[in-house]
Amino acid sequence: MENLEKILADFEAGLKNLKSEREVFDFEKRYLGRKDGIITNLFSEIANLSIDEKRELGSKLNEIKKRIKVLLKQKKSSVSKIEIEIDEDAPEIKSGFGSFHPLTIIKKELAEVFSSMGFDIVEGFEVANDYYNFGALNFPEDHPARDMQDAYYISGSKDQLLRAHTSTMQVFTFENEIPPVRKIAMGKCFRRDETDATHEHTFWQIEGFAVDENITSGNLKFTLNEMFKKILEKEDVNVRFRPSYFPFVEPGYEVDSTCTFCGGKGCRICKNTGWIEWGGAGMIHPNVLEKQNIDSKKFRGFAFGFGIERMAMIKFGIKEIRNFHSGDLRFLGV
Ligand code: PHE
Repeated sequence: MENLEKILADFEAGLKNLKSEREVFDFEKRYLGRKDGIITNLFSEIANLSIDEKRELGSKLNEIKKRIKVLLKQKKSSVSKIEIEIDEDAPEIKSGFGSFHPLTIIKKELAEVFSSMGFDIVEGFEVANDYYNFGALNFPEDHPARDMQDAYYISGSKDQLLRAHTSTMQVFTFENEIPPVRKIAMGKCFRRDETDATHEHTFWQIEGFAVDENITSGNLKFTLNEMFKKILEKEDVNVRFRPSYFPFVEPGYEVDSTCTFCGGKGCRICKNTGWIEWGGAGMIHPNVLEKQNIDSKKFRGFAFGFGIERMAMIKFGIKEIRNFHSGDLRFLGV
């Protein structure tokens, strides 16, 4: 009998020190486990006692077993509470759901707006030869962009290079398709620019072009206006063309939109001019069409080319272009 009291006292003392559900579970097993549990063993021991002893000890043992069970139950509910409290104090765990890369967001928006206007979307090839990158695009023989210092040539080749712009896709399309065509090419381009906060050797471009019987600069302006409305998420955007030179367009333009960030008053993004510079455009040069046996008296086309990183930098206020391909997850805010 005394022994039984001691067992209960030990149990109660031991129970106090338990801190987790796991510990309570093990403790329960030690006392009530079917195999070698302290209380379980006592039940098998009394089988050998006299009837009177059996009755006395048996009922005491049952009482203790009941008590132990009640205490265990209480302890279980209190340790699970302790565990929840610990969780509440733990540092915040971020969801880690991830997010779209800014370039992906822009490409998706571009794909949406241009497919709504009937443009096909292609990616094209990253390796081109001189003909696709320059020759067929009316670049003169001695144009500096053809220089080994400006483009990445495939080692050992004077002809094959990593495309310096997506305008290669104009040539490829005109070789393979009969106008009317409306096409968007989005893909990587490569230049041996000095890298700085706004220039990278590897960058994405979107090239767009349409060839049909009555295409004018007005169509170009409308199309670009739709694009700016989508990217800038504003309805009241205007487009402006400034004269510029690219060998494969005539006339050629630099394209600006009104600055939707300051409403034209002047801010950091538009460098206080009220206009944001986006990229190049123009009416496709008759030489480019004629080289592909497209009658330039009958067909005309527009083309434009913009850097996609630049679009993302403007839209999201990103200051450093090298972040885009750095692989640093902090850039994505993940
Ligand atoms: N390919 C030109 C560039 O990369 C951009 C451009 C495309 C200009 C189409 C006019 C027409 O600089």
